[in-house]
Amino acid sequence: MTKPHQAELNSLDFGTLKAQGKKIVMLTAYDYAMARAVAQTDIDLILVGDSLGMVVLGYDSTLDVKVADMIHHCAAVRRGATNKFIIVDMPYMSYHLSIEQSKANAAELLIGGRANAVKLEGGSDSRLKAIEAIVDCEIPVCAHLGLTPQSIHKFGGYKVQGKGDKAMQELLRQAHAVEDAGAFMIVLEGIPEELGKLISAELSIPTIGIGAGRYTDGQVLVVNDLLGYSGYPAKFVKRYAELDEIIVPALQSYAQEVREGVFPSAEHCYYPIETNTTRSEERS
Ligand code: KIV
Repeated sequence: MTKPHQAELNSLDFGTLKAQGKKIVMLTAYDYAMARAVAQTDIDLILVGDSLGMVVLGYDSTLDVKVADMIHHCAAVRRGATNKFIIVDMPYMSYHLSIEQSKANAAELLIGGRANAVKLEGGSDSRLKAIEAIVDCEIPVCAHLGLTPQSIHKFGGYKVQGKGDKAMQELLRQAHAVEDAGAFMIVLEGIPEELGKLISAELSIPTIGIGAGRYTDGQVLVVNDLLGYSGYPAKFVKRYAELDEIIVPALQSYAQEVREGVFPSAEHCYYPIETNTTRSEERS
């Protein structure tokens, strides 16, 4: 039998962190290698986001991602980060058809992906019913409001939401509604800073912002954006590294060294044949 994972924090701890005024740090991860790196930091929790579709699988939106993709990647993240609380995204159309479908997919994602909670987008009446039903299955739910990427066709693109008094009041109403439906946390994406501040002050559950300003209870970034690793540099992203600038020249050096017979050298060979000449010298 496999040993059960034991995350350092549980779904109730994040409310405590908010109450204590401590900022919550969330980061996405999609595979074992990155999860191992995150596991060695004091980042509070990992989101296996459906941004997977764009940054890892090369789709032009998140809409193509399937439940099976999320489970596959989430389970890999869990293998790399046994100590972290993991939220897995419910992909597009995995919670839209019926309550039964929502519950079944949430359970499959949680169990198959070895996650601690699921996240779903939106605050409409049917989303509220889905949140209630999933929570009733003992599965913690993180809500997600604002610029929800699964709604890009409705929004007419990746546009900041909650601008203007009416839109602001509507998002504030939805934020209260997802809290009342039982969400333990809420991601706020692509909204004016003022609205991020207002929602964070009014709700008792923690708010995690991405492009939602400075006053949310925590922050999340897409790991590839943060690392400059084939990410999308939006206004709200801060680059903490420029990995593409390291990776591309490294790959180019490898290609060059193989062609020149420089790699592998004797130190990279098992029982190397004694020789004073490289293969390129032999050829010339
Ligand atoms: O899919 C994702 O990575 C997300 C974050 C951008 C919040 O939902």
